[in-house]
Amino acid sequence: SLYAVIMAGGVGSRFWPRSRRATPKQFLDVLGPTSLIQNTAARLQGLVEPERIFVVTHADYVEQTQEHLPFVPAENILAEPIAKNTAPCIAFAAARLHGLDPDATMLILPADHLVQNVKRFQEVVREAVRRAETPEADGASGAFPLVTIGVRPTHPETGYGYIQYDADGETDGVSDDGPAATPEAHRVMTFAEKPDLATAERFVEAGDFLWNSGMFIWRADAILAEMEEHLPEIHALFAPLASSPAQEAITRAYERTPKVSIDVGIMEKARHVWVVPGAFGWSDVGDWRAVHAVAEKDEAGNVAEGDVIFHHTSRSYAKAGPGRMLVLVGLQDAVVVDAEDAVLVCHRESAQRVKDVVDYLGVHG
Ligand code: GDD
Ligand code: MG
Repeated sequence: SLYAVIMAGGVGSRFWPRSRRATPKQFLDVLGPTSLIQNTAARLQGLVEPERIFVVTHADYVEQTQEHLPFVPAENILAEPIAKNTAPCIAFAAARLHGLDPDATMLILPADHLVQNVKRFQEVVREAVRRAETPEADGASGAFPLVTIGVRPTHPETGYGYIQYDADGETDGVSDDGPAATPEAHRVMTFAEKPDLATAERFVEAGDFLWNSGMFIWRADAILAEMEEHLPEIHALFAPLASSPAQEAITRAYERTPKVSIDVGIMEKARHVWVVPGAFGWSDVGDWRAVHAVAEKDEAGNVAEGDVIFHHTSRSYAKAGPGRMLVLVGLQDAVVVDAEDAVLVCHRESAQRVKDVVDYLGVHG
C-alpha cells in the first residue's frame, strides 16, 4: 500500500531574512496562510491516510514538524542526526517502511514545493503508483521500476535534473501531458543531474527532456535493491534499520554514510526508470523571485504582503514586518523583505544571490 515520505531537510538560505537556522523554508508561509510543509501534507488528502504519512527531518526540527502536522503520528517523524543529502534520507525511510510493510510503495515528496492544481497532481501520482507497482515486462528482471514525476522545462535551469524520455516509443496511451489529458508513464532513457548551462540549453532545445520535479514513486523493496547495486555502502548502513532501531544505530549510520543525492547516486545509474509528466503548476519556490512569480499580482505586477504601499512601482515583491508599514516609490523589479531584525532589499533578478550573502555573513543561524 501507499505511504508518503516528506523530505524536510531544507535550510532555504535564499529566503533570508525570513529563513534562519531555526526556521527553514518548509516552515515558512511564503505562499499564503499555511506553511509549505502543511501545503505538502494537505495535497495528500484522499490519496494517503494521515497514519501513512512519514516525514524525514533533522532532529532539531522534529518538534516544529509536529506542530505543523499534528495529524501525523509522532512515530512517523524520522529524525536524522546529521543531514547527508537525499540518498541516506530515502534509504532510512525505505528500510523503515519495508520493515513495516513488505509491499510498501513510497511517494517521496520535497516538503517545500508548490503545486497549484492538486486534483491534477493526484491523477499524476496515481498513474505513477500504478507504474511503480507493475513489474517490468522485459523478461529477465521482473523488477519493479523507479518512477519520477517530470515537468516540461521552460528555460535552461542548471539547478535541476533533466530526464530524457522515450517520447514516441513505449507509452501506454495518449502522448499529450496537458492538464486535460490522461497522465501516462514514459520510459526514461537518460537522467542528468544539474548539467552545465550549455548542456541544459541543448536539452531544452531537444524537446524530449523534462525537468525532474524531485518527487519519486517506487516500492521500498525496489529502491533498496537499486541501492544495494549502486550505493552498497549506504545500503549496508541503512537496510538493517528496518524496525524500531536503537538511536545509536541510527547515529552510527549517519556518521558513516557518504553525503550523496538520490539523483546522482541512483537516478543517473538505474536502468528501470519511468517518468510521468505532470502539468499541475509546479515550482520549487527556490527564492523570492519564484515567490513573486507564482503569487497573485496587481495590475502593475506587484505582490504585497502585509502593510505595503506601492507608488510608481512595478513588478515588485514587498513584505512588511509585523506592526510596520513598507513604502516603495519609483522602483521596478524590487524585492523588499522586512523581518524582525533584518531587512533585505534586492533586485528581483538577483534573488538567487541572497544565498551568497547569507553564506558570507554566516548569520544563517
Ligand atoms: N530529510 C532530509 N535530509 N531532507 C533533505 C536532505 C537531507 O539531508 N537534503 C535535502 N533534503 C530535502 C530538501 O528539503 C528538499 O525538500 C528535497 O530534499 C530536495 O533537496 P534539494 O537540496 O532542494 O535538491 P535540489 O533542489 O538541489 O535538486 C532536487 O530537486 C530538483 C527540483 O527542485 C533534485 O531532485 C533535482 O533533480 C530536481 O530537479
Ligand atoms: Mg531544491
